[in-house]
Amino acid sequence: MTKSFIEVQFPVSKVSKESYKERKANYNQTLTGLGKWWGRKPLILVRATIIGLLMPASDNPVKDREIFLKLLTMDDEGLWRRKNKNITQKELYNKLTPKERQKWFAPDSISDKPKLKRGLSAEEKDKLQYLVFNRLSYDEKLTYCDRPEHINGPSERAWEEINQHLGANAKSLPEFVQQLGERRFGHIPRVGDAFCGGGSVPFEAARLGCEAYGSDLNPVAALLTWAALNIIGGGPDVAKEVRRAQQEVYEAVDRLITEWGIEHNELGWRADAYLYCNEVICPECGWKVPLAPSWVIGEKTKCVAKLIPDEINKCFEIIIETGVSNEEMQAAKDAGTIKGSSIVCPHCPESTQSTPITMLRGDRRSGGGIQYGLRLWENEDIVPRPDDVFQERLYCIRWVETYIDEEGKKQTQRYYMAPDENDMRRERKVLELLGERFNEWQEKGYIPSRRIEPGDKTDEPIRTRGWTYWHHLFNPRQLLTLGLFSEITYKYYHSKLYHVENLLEVGRLIDTKGIGCKLLRWNSHSSKEMHATVFSNQALNTLYNYCHRTLCVLDIINEKALYVNNSFILDIKPKDARQIDVNCDIWITDPPYADAINYHELSEFFLAWYQKHIIIAFPDWYSDSKRALAITGADESFRNSMVDCYRNLAKLMPDNGMQIVMFTHQDASVWADLALILWAAGLRVTAAWCIATETDTALKEGNYVQGTVLLVLCKHTSNDTAFTDEIYPEVEEEVKNQLDEMLALDDKENPNFSDTDYQLAAYAAALRVLTKYCNIEDIDVARELTRSRQQGEQSQVEKIIVQAVKIACDYLVPQSIDNFTWQDLNPGERFYLKGLEIESHGEYRSGAYQELARGFGIREYRSLLANAQANQTRLKTASEFASRMLGDTGFGVTLVRHILFAVREVVRTGETVTSRNWFRNELGENYWKQRRTIITILNYLANLGQNQNMPQWEEDANAARLLAGAVENDHI
Ligand SMILES: C[S@@+](CC[C@H](N)C(=O)[O-])C[C@H]1O[C@@H](n2cnc3c(N)ncnc32)[C@H](O)[C@@H]1O
Repeated sequence: MTKSFIEVQFPVSKVSKESYKERKANYNQTLTGLGKWWGRKPLILVRATIIGLLMPASDNPVKDREIFLKLLTMDDEGLWRRKNKNITQKELYNKLTPKERQKWFAPDSISDKPKLKRGLSAEEKDKLQYLVFNRLSYDEKLTYCDRPEHINGPSERAWEEINQHLGANAKSLPEFVQQLGERRFGHIPRVGDAFCGGGSVPFEAARLGCEAYGSDLNPVAALLTWAALNIIGGGPDVAKEVRRAQQEVYEAVDRLITEWGIEHNELGWRADAYLYCNEVICPECGWKVPLAPSWVIGEKTKCVAKLIPDEINKCFEIIIETGVSNEEMQAAKDAGTIKGSSIVCPHCPESTQSTPITMLRGDRRSGGGIQYGLRLWENEDIVPRPDDVFQERLYCIRWVETYIDEEGKKQTQRYYMAPDENDMRRERKVLELLGERFNEWQEKGYIPSRRIEPGDKTDEPIRTRGWTYWHHLFNPRQLLTLGLFSEITYKYYHSKLYHVENLLEVGRLIDTKGIGCKLLRWNSHSSKEMHATVFSNQALNTLYNYCHRTLCVLDIINEKALYVNNSFILDIKPKDARQIDVNCDIWITDPPYADAINYHELSEFFLAWYQKHIIIAFPDWYSDSKRALAITGADESFRNSMVDCYRNLAKLMPDNGMQIVMFTHQDASVWADLALILWAAGLRVTAAWCIATETDTALKEGNYVQGTVLLVLCKHTSNDTAFTDEIYPEVEEEVKNQLDEMLALDDKENPNFSDTDYQLAAYAAALRVLTKYCNIEDIDVARELTRSRQQGEQSQVEKIIVQAVKIACDYLVPQSIDNFTWQDLNPGERFYLKGLEIESHGEYRSGAYQELARGFGIREYRSLLANAQANQTRLKTASEFASRMLGDTGFGVTLVRHILFAVREVVRTGETVTSRNWFRNELGENYWKQRRTIITILNYLANLGQNQNMPQWEEDANAARLLAGAVENDHI
């Protein structure tokens, strides 16, 4: 069978950059505005994957790549067509030669403020833009471009070339996809995702013209996917209609709130934000202490809350001041009454003012565990009872005054104020209004009525606040506004589209839009001084102070309106991946693998609001998170569930079908597990590519080599058996072949593969060899999958994978060091020299060095690092080593270490004779034998001086160059 493009090559660097650009667009990504889902895959990655799977590889890999880039509008022409803004005059000027500057710029131009010549026609200006645009790097170009999804695929000219190369006859991506599908499968290709999450795969597949199937165990995910295809993909008319309905609901809710007078004050101002805090009684002095980690309300407006002691009532009055001095701002920060996990009572003397929260809650050790002390709330509790530990208090309202200025324009002015008696009366009214509706609303599902099931993530609200039902996470104002919104929506709007859109709108209101819940943080740093989002991390973190925004600040969502042909949607539903029974030619999945996101628990925050209405819209769906079926963890039961899922998917594809499994790149043991799982499921690995999809990998804890691995798989068809001792040489050959192919394809100017991609290729090569066999005599797959392992225990498969990485590390000799020299060096020396090469590519992630050390089988490498911090990791220079480690065991006794010392001596003494003599003395006879190696390594170090990523090497590199000359000229 002809191989697919993605089985042979993949432009990882460009796809990573495009994915990164998409992720950076935050809420401007096509699907994110629909609602929260964790770990959505970039659409461009899905598009590249589908096209890469469908496009056959020819015997001309260079042309294949060119065509593939055209299809994705990632070639020069495509990028130019995606350009959406002009390159600035300054940038143009800087990219031109002096002669070109004379041609285009006015003679009195200076680089800081260049001026284009007068009278240039639009056409000429465009020509200049084109000239300079083509000189920019890919990253620079992207800053001037829209995303590929924003233009209508390749140009007419590009289609001619694409069609000619592939023998197709297409004028659009859907036509292309359908023709290639026909060719390979005999029909329009069917693409499915059984872990569809936020819907990236089915959405992009349908948009590309494939028939799309999507399912996920979680109904929230299914809902988001359905909405992606039918609302966003419903085209402009659907978007307009949905928006109109939503506008009506907003207006109706707003009218009622205004009538009730619960958000307006006596001056007619409207509140746009309410800030609440907890209050507890200090066990030392008996005073009521309001809680907040800081009392700053707005950095920009310099607004703070101040606690004023009230000796008579043993509590604090809270006053709000705006425009305070910097000292007062600092004081408000320092005056936080929560520090770490203790309350700090401002009334107590310093020695007794700190009380651990656990003590306040009354948590106690009992038996082997902890017994939590808080009273557990009951369904009817909508505010704390008077004797509860944590009381809730409104401490600030932001009011908006609207007036007409002298020029007749509408103006607004915002004021932060402490609540007065009238505000407290309004709070009571809110409670009263909610009380009147509470039972009916719960019954009708307008507000949640579900219990919080304990769990890893859902324990926190129970343990730290005593909340036991989901509605306890909301205060009366929030419940009243949200309940009203639901009531009006569900009473008056019945079509499936409205239903889904409004369910999702409730999801947005409680999370990002600001009606919020008691987990919604106030962001005093933001220039707009506004709410943050609930899920700043993947947890349900309870807060000591939180905010609520009112309806008046909310916008109707401007759903993106794109067109997805409805007839391409096969089905979208909640379903366990083990249970699905739909055949697809291609499965693209991103299972909950080695990521610690507790989808099933976190989604219950939303499901509590959707529970009754999701099944009205979709009578054949279910509305709970099916925790017991969710795939999580990493133990044997997890591995077995994964095998069951993938065995089912393998069964649901034809013999010439293909799969892509995406997962986060981790260490060899994770790869080994995945190999076992896929192997046991009857799948064979044909290739693997690593795409950097995360926007914030640099900031991630552990700073591991991050990225999404695309594992390309097909059905296992052979019955071959092998022995492990046959496997090792085969893996070696496969690794080398793979690296050779990648090296041949790589572009020196604009590298496609990074150092870690080459290492990754080794993992993939090992998997390819292993999974090629139906059986390997010494590996009992079933047993490996089911047995529990000791920490650090290496399985047979893991050993093979580690060996593959070692082969790759040894095979990838740094440029300018010959194989002969390389073979003479020991692993520590190779790690150091290869590490310098990685550093020269601007790689400072600690994970990259960790991975390299693992590849060379080195345990201790930290002593070679000048900086071990995440994203600043680099090796010591010769001078930084000084005389450290010299003569010790390990790296200290190696030739490289001696060379580094000699270089440092040249820097220190300013001459080469001492170092050269030192070589002679230290190395004795060996000096002459190793002279070539010494010179090679010195030259290698000398080259570092020219690398802009390694300024710290400038002096040492110069010394290395001088010393290389001295050793070269040395003779007996
Ligand atoms: C990493 S996410 C997928 C994200 C998705 N690719 C996207 O772009 O949004 C993994 C998904 O697997 C789902 N899941 C967990 N256990 C499952 C099961 N037994 N069957 C089907 N889906 C499951 C989770 O609900 C989650 O949505």
